[in-house]
Amino acid sequence: MTTLELPTRGELTGRPYQVSTVRHQTHDVVTIDVRPEQDPIAFQPGQFDMVYVYGVGEAAISISSDPATPGLLSHTIRAVGWVTKALNQLQPGATIAIRGPYGRPWPLEQAQGRDLVIVAGGIGLAPVRPAIVQALHQRERFGRVVLLVGARSPRDLVFRDDLDRWNADRGIDVHATVDSAVRGWTDHVGVVTTLIPRVPFDPENAVVLACGPEVMMRATARSMQARGVPAERIHVTLERNMKCGVGTCGHCQLGPLFLCRDGPVFAWPEVADLLEVREL
Ligand SMILES: Cc1cc2nc3c(=O)[nH]c(=O)nc-3n(C[C@H](O)[C@H](O)[C@H](O)COP(=O)(O)OP(=O)(O)OC[C@H]3O[C@@H](n4cnc5c(N)ncnc54)[C@H](O)[C@@H]3O)c2cc1C
Ligand code: FES
Repeated sequence: MTTLELPTRGELTGRPYQVSTVRHQTHDVVTIDVRPEQDPIAFQPGQFDMVYVYGVGEAAISISSDPATPGLLSHTIRAVGWVTKALNQLQPGATIAIRGPYGRPWPLEQAQGRDLVIVAGGIGLAPVRPAIVQALHQRERFGRVVLLVGARSPRDLVFRDDLDRWNADRGIDVHATVDSAVRGWTDHVGVVTTLIPRVPFDPENAVVLACGPEVMMRATARSMQARGVPAERIHVTLERNMKCGVGTCGHCQLGPLFLCRDGPVFAWPEVADLLEVREL
C-alpha cells in the first residue's frame, strides 16, 4: 500500500516529478499529468502547487486531478509568460519540480446535505475539477450537483471529454455556454452568469464554488445573492502573483490577506470589499 505524506507549511524544496502525459485542451492550454519519483502527497480540492521548470522558474498552478489518486497529479496551464510557456512545451518524460500542496481548499464539507453549484469560466474549470470529481465519488452526500461552465467560444472550452461524460451522467447537471456561438453549437449563448436564474437548484440551501476572471466572480456573487444564496455560502478562488507560496514574501497580498496563506479560496464576505478596489 502507498504511504501518503502531508507537507509542512515551511516546505520550500520542490520534489522531482516525471511528466507522463501532455494533453492539449485548447491552442494555449495544456494539462500535464505527472508522477512523483517518491511517495505521493495527499491534497484537497482547491489547493495549488508551486511548479518549477528547471532553468526557467516557478509558478503557482492549481491541482486539477482527482484527490483520490494523488500518485497521478495533473495541472492545467495557460501559456501567458516564461514559466507557463515552458510548461506548455514540455514533453512526456521531462522532469519538473513541484512543492505543495498549499492553500485553503474548497469547503466541500459545508455543501454536504445541500445543493452544490459550481460556476467556472474558461480555464477556471481546472481549480474546481477536483471538487467536482470528489463530489461525484461521494454523490450521496449532496443534494443537486450543478455545473455552469462558460467559455469565449466552443474551442476555448477545457475538459471537453469530462463535460460530455458528466453530461451523460445523471449525477451532475451540466450547463455549458459560450460568449459567441459558432455553427454547430446547440447549447446556450451568453456569459456564464446568464445561466444562474435559469437552472434548477435550491438557493437557500445551496453552496456555490466559483472560479474564473474576477469580473465573472463578482457577477456570479451578485446573481447568486439576487437568487437568494446567502453570501457566506458563495466561495471564490483568487489569483495574485506568488513567489513563496507559504505566507512569507508578501507578493500575493490583497489588503490584509496573503492569498497563499489565507486563501486562495475565500467566502465571498471575506473579499467582497477588497475586490471592489481597482488595482488592489
Ligand atoms: C493560487 C493560484 C492558482 C493558479 N492556478 C493556475 C492554473 O491552474 N493554471 C494556470 O494556467 N495559471 C494558474 N495561476 C496563474 C499562474 O500562476 C500565472 O499565470 C503564472 O505565474 C504566470 O507565470 P509566467 O512566468 O508564465 O508569466 P509571467 O512572465 O510571470 O507573467 C505574464 C503575465 O501574467 C501576469 N501574471 C503573473 N502571475 C499572475 C497571477 N497569478 N495572476 C494574474 N496575473 C499574473 C504578469 O503580470 C504578466 O502580465 C494560478 C495562480 C495562483 C496564485
Ligand atoms: S506568495 Fe509569498 S506571501 Fe504569498
